[in-house]
Amino acid sequence: MKDDIQRVLYSEEEIRQTVRQLGAQISRDYAGKNLLLVSILKGAVVFMTDLMREITIPCRIDFMAVSSYSGTVSTGDVQILKDLGMPIKGYDVLIVEDILDSGRTLKYITEQLQVRQPQSIRICTLFDKPEGRKAPVKADYVGMLVPNEFIVGYGLDYNEKYRNLPYIGVLKPEVYGG
Ligand code: IMP
Ligand code: MG
Repeated sequence: MKDDIQRVLYSEEEIRQTVRQLGAQISRDYAGKNLLLVSILKGAVVFMTDLMREITIPCRIDFMAVSSYSGTVSTGDVQILKDLGMPIKGYDVLIVEDILDSGRTLKYITEQLQVRQPQSIRICTLFDKPEGRKAPVKADYVGMLVPNEFIVGYGLDYNEKYRNLPYIGVLKPEVYGG
């Protein structure tokens, strides 16, 4: 698996620092609120489990799965594969996402959740690729900006592989060839 990585973009330690800062900021901003973290499976699951442990105020968690990707190119065709397990009316929903690229996934999800009358709804993404944006979506919390390159690791996959790498890497071009 390591042999497929061309270079490491963010080390475990760099990611840890960023997640710690996000957790501290969210803990301050949501003090006294009714925080519900909604993580998007599967990519955001590693970020979610680290982030929730950096949050020092009471919160609930739930998961949702959507699909829009095949290989490295976004199809823009978003589908809910697994919906939330609880009503979100009155909750301060914070969507926890791995990476914001075209924005189509988060546009669709926020539209779907908005009609369920949450108290508020905001977005926390660990990585943001602003150059890839096709839909007008802005995250309220951004961990790190990434260039317009395909990255893997820390939950992020290429054809369902590499999610278990503890750091963020860029794949060698020949990996996409096969
Ligand atoms: P968007 O709808 O284009 O913003 O796509 C966001 C989703 O695409 C993320 O939740 C990821 O699952 C996936 N994605 C976007 N860029 C990358 C990448 O560089 N590596 C792995 N997955 C990515
Ligand atoms: Mg994802």
